[in-house]
Amino acid sequence: MPPDAPAPPAVTVERLVVERGGRTVLRDVSAAVPTGSVTGLLGPSGSGKTTLIRSIVGTQKVKSGTVTVLGEPAGSKRLRSRVAYVTQDASIYPDLSVKSNVAYFASLYGRDRRDAAAAIEAVGMHDHAERLAANLSGGQKTRTSLACALVCDPEVLVLDEPTVGLDPVIREELWAQFHGLASTGRTLLVSSHVMDEADRCDRLLLVREGRFIADDTPAGLRSATGTEDLESAFLHLIRAQDGSR
Ligand SMILES: Nc1ncnc2c1ncn2[C@@H]1O[C@H](COP(=O)(O)OP(=O)(O)O)[C@@H](O)[C@H]1O
Ligand SMILES: [Mg+2]
Repeated sequence: MPPDAPAPPAVTVERLVVERGGRTVLRDVSAAVPTGSVTGLLGPSGSGKTTLIRSIVGTQKVKSGTVTVLGEPAGSKRLRSRVAYVTQDASIYPDLSVKSNVAYFASLYGRDRRDAAAAIEAVGMHDHAERLAANLSGGQKTRTSLACALVCDPEVLVLDEPTVGLDPVIREELWAQFHGLASTGRTLLVSSHVMDEADRCDRLLLVREGRFIADDTPAGLRSATGTEDLESAFLHLIRAQDGSR
């Protein structure tokens, strides 16, 4: 590769078809997630966001198509500590402290207490490290989950609706953290069903009824649809899609 060639995409999805419960929920979708950026996966509830995320982390049975992560087939063993997944419901142990939760994940990945402490520090939870997870606020739980994901120093982080139900200040802080991670070369894919998060992403993947209806930057989406706010851009694309059926 020439020295200044752009890095290959961290995630490539090609002609992916997924069926769940006898229904097709991803319908021949293709996209690439660029390395070192924050890509938003946006779409209403039930549109297929979690299914796509599961396909990327390798926990979803796919009918056809391919998903490649860091040059390897999704879910392959070699990706184990290179890809981290924060599920929609914070997956931490309520009866353990923040510190013990993160230390547990560290031990799973052959990391030590120093790595655990660094991950807790990175998400700003060092002042709450001794607290029981059960007693944390929603935002603190999300941060703790993020620390559990960060402890293996992953290159790709996939977060499923991490900011849902959080207050605006905490959301702001989390997005700043996502960008901080991307600025160190990590790749983040962050899903959300609220369009007001769209402007915080470097790139947007808009999903509706199992299809991608846009794969663009926020600015590109505005100019392509001739709209100022991204909510209107989304509506514009939906109408265009419905009109062409
Ligand atoms: N375990 C399942 N069995 C059958 N259908 C499912 C299952 N999980 C999700 N689905 C269906 O797949 C579609 C996409 O769901 P999902 O990927 O969870 O959407 P989102 O994350 O955007 O809300 C929905 O229609 C949902 O009802
Ligand atoms: Mg979901």
